[in-house]
This record gives sequence, C-alpha cells and structure tokens, in this order.
Amino acid sequence: MRFKGAVLTLLALITSSILAACGSTPTAVPTAAPTAAATAATPAATTAATTAAAPAATTAATTAAATAAATTDAAPANSTLAVGIVLPTKDEPRWIQDETRFREALTAAGYQVEILFSQGDSAKEKANVEALLTKGIKVLIICPQDGTAAAAAADEARKAGVKVISYDRLIRETDAVDYYVTFDSLAVGANQAQYLVDNAKGTGNPLYLYAGAASDNNAFLFFEGAWKVLQPKIADGTFVIKNSKEADALKAKAELTREEQVKIIGQVTTDWKFDVAKKHADGDLTNATAADKGTVFILAPNDGTARAIADTFAADKDVKTYYVTGQDAEKASVQYIIDGKQSMTVFKDVRVEVKDAIEAAVSMLEGKTPTSTSKYNNGKIDVPATQSPVISVDKANVKAALIDSNYYQASDFTGL
Ligand code: BGC
Repeated sequence: MRFKGAVLTLLALITSSILAACGSTPTAVPTAAPTAAATAATPAATTAATTAAAPAATTAATTAAATAAATTDAAPANSTLAVGIVLPTKDEPRWIQDETRFREALTAAGYQVEILFSQGDSAKEKANVEALLTKGIKVLIICPQDGTAAAAAADEARKAGVKVISYDRLIRETDAVDYYVTFDSLAVGANQAQYLVDNAKGTGNPLYLYAGAASDNNAFLFFEGAWKVLQPKIADGTFVIKNSKEADALKAKAELTREEQVKIIGQVTTDWKFDVAKKHADGDLTNATAADKGTVFILAPNDGTARAIADTFAADKDVKTYYVTGQDAEKASVQYIIDGKQSMTVFKDVRVEVKDAIEAAVSMLEGKTPTSTSKYNNGKIDVPATQSPVISVDKANVKAALIDSNYYQASDFTGL
C-alpha cells in the first residue's frame, strides 16, 4: 500500500535526517492560475457530488485535563522529531479523532510524533509552534484555531526553514503555507442543504440558518456550498428564512461575496460552540411566532452544534417536526440519528485526511513537492491542495456507511 510505503520511507528519512540535519527542502509553489474572487478562500477545483468514503476512526472521550496537552509517544532511541502537529482543541470529539488517527498512523511504525493542542487560543497555538520549532521539526502540520491569526506562526516556521501544511482549516493572509490538506468543504455544505431541500414540501417552509466560527475559513466554504443549493429554493418560496435579516436581504443573490458572507455568518455564527449554538437557537425561537414553527428546517454547521440546536428546537412545544443537518459523524450524533433526534450528518473520513497530510510531509522531507489536485486562495496566494470526498449520512444509510464499513462498531450504539 502506498500509505504504508510512505510511513516506511518516513522512518528511513528520520534516521538520515539526524545525519543530514539540513532541513532545506524546495518550496511547494502553486503551479497554475489563481482562483477567482479576490478575498474568498475558495477551492479552484470543486467536487460537487457526494462520493463514498472509506471507513475510519473511533472517537475517544474528551480528556478532562485538556489544557494544551502535549503528548510525545515513545520513539526508537535514534529517531528525531521530524514532524510536529498542532490541533485546535481537545474539547470537540472531531479533533480527538484526528489525534487518534495521527498517532495510529505514525507511532505504529515506531516514529516519534508530538501533538499539541491549542485549546481555542491563538497565543497558545503560537507558543506550541515555537516549542516544536525549538525541537527541530522539519514539517509543521497545523490546523489553525483562527485562520488569520495563525499566519504569524506560519511565518515563523517559514523563517526557520520549516515546511507548513495547513490541516483541514486554511491559514489565511500569508505566503508561508506550503500545502493544504482538506475535505471538499463546499460539498459538505451542499450535502447539508440538499438534505433540507429533499425533505421540504410545498412553499413557506420555515428555515433557520446557523454557521461555524467566522475565524475559520471552512465556515465560509460550508456556508457557500449550502447557499448555492438553498438560495434558489429560498428565491422560489420553498423556504422562508426566519432568523437572519442579513441572509433574507440577500436572498435574490445566487453568489455571495466574502463581505456578504461575513454579514450573514456574523449574524448566525455558533462560533463552533455548543453553548453559543443553544443560546442562538433559544433566542430565535423566542423571537419566532407559532406560525414560524410547525415543521422546520435547520441548517446546523456541525454535529456538536446540531445536537445543541436540535435539543433546543425539540423542547419547543410549537415545533412539531424538525429537520437538522450536521457534519463529522461524531458518535453522539450517530446515536442521535439512530434515535431520530438529528436528521443527517456529513461523514468525513479522518483517516484519509491524516494519510494525505502524512504523505505530503513525507514528500517534503524527501525534498519533493507534494502532488496537488486543487488549490485554495488564502487571500495572499493560491495554496496547492488535496481534498478528499465526503458522504451524506442519514438514518437510511447510517448502518451501511458507518457500521458495515467498520468505521464504528455496532456495539457503540443502541437501537441500530
Ligand atoms: C472542521 C469541522 C469541525 C469544525 C469545528 C471545521 O473547520 O472542518 O470538521 O466540526 O471545524 O471544530
């Protein structure tokens, strides 16, 4: 297998890198034409359709004492730390999945890896990067807490001759990003929206919009993907937006500028936090009349916020039926889907993203330029990228997509 080969190559490189200790590898330069919109960080190549993904990770429980926890796995005596990884927070199962998969992929081969968590704090993130640079890493894999704030850390890495792989979330407004590994985030939003469209009958269906954190470029991509599918159905009266005056004012526009997205996301952001999501949903239901309820359609950006929003809507006596989206296939949401409390999720196979990141790192350690299949404009440059497909999961295919595929065990759930 290519991936296994890559890890073995990495092992060999670790040994040689002790002797070589030079660390200067060629810069991965974007090879082709820039992407369109000046400020928007959008992929040049978009995979619209949902594609099946392979099975993956298990979600470990969130560790309590999670403040910027650093863990270095035992390594062979003569290995050196070639790759450092920085992830945004241990407080969301999503990033624990990534940690688990990175650890499995790298340490199984006896390779030393250090994974640091920023705990939602850009200053902590920068300190984490500096700590890894001090330890002599050659490649930094970083999922930024705040895409723009992380530019400073990327710049520091570049100055130290370290290659930077932006992981899952794009680092913005700097040329010090060598590569971007991601999922097809436009397709995530498109799948969420398509689910709502597929379940809406007639006209005048109440639509409630929620988005991710404005500091995360992905929140824009998810929303952009969703808007493309929802907007024609808002324009033709199938849906009526109930909780965003900004979105309602733009309902005739098929494509939104980044500035217009900023306005909408600013109004309906969850900041990727459960409590913020709940607070928003509470406020929206308080402001809504009984006629704005009944059967409702809810664009929720990910599983954590979806569960918070779903619980809030479920508790409202005037809400008779709700359709709510999600993403990440977190275990708790898979159970919600089985129980009929969350309608769908978008499954992103973390193993694939981890594999892509490691392959890119290996390529850089070998002094090569990683293969890219698309590019994303980060406000400064077109970052060469690879993006993997996603799959829409609801009650009808939850077993096939997540259990039969061995992503999760049937025993992880009740009522399957
Ligand atoms: C990730 C999602 C995640 C969200 C909140 C996004 O950047 O792509 O998978 O749910 O951040 O952490």
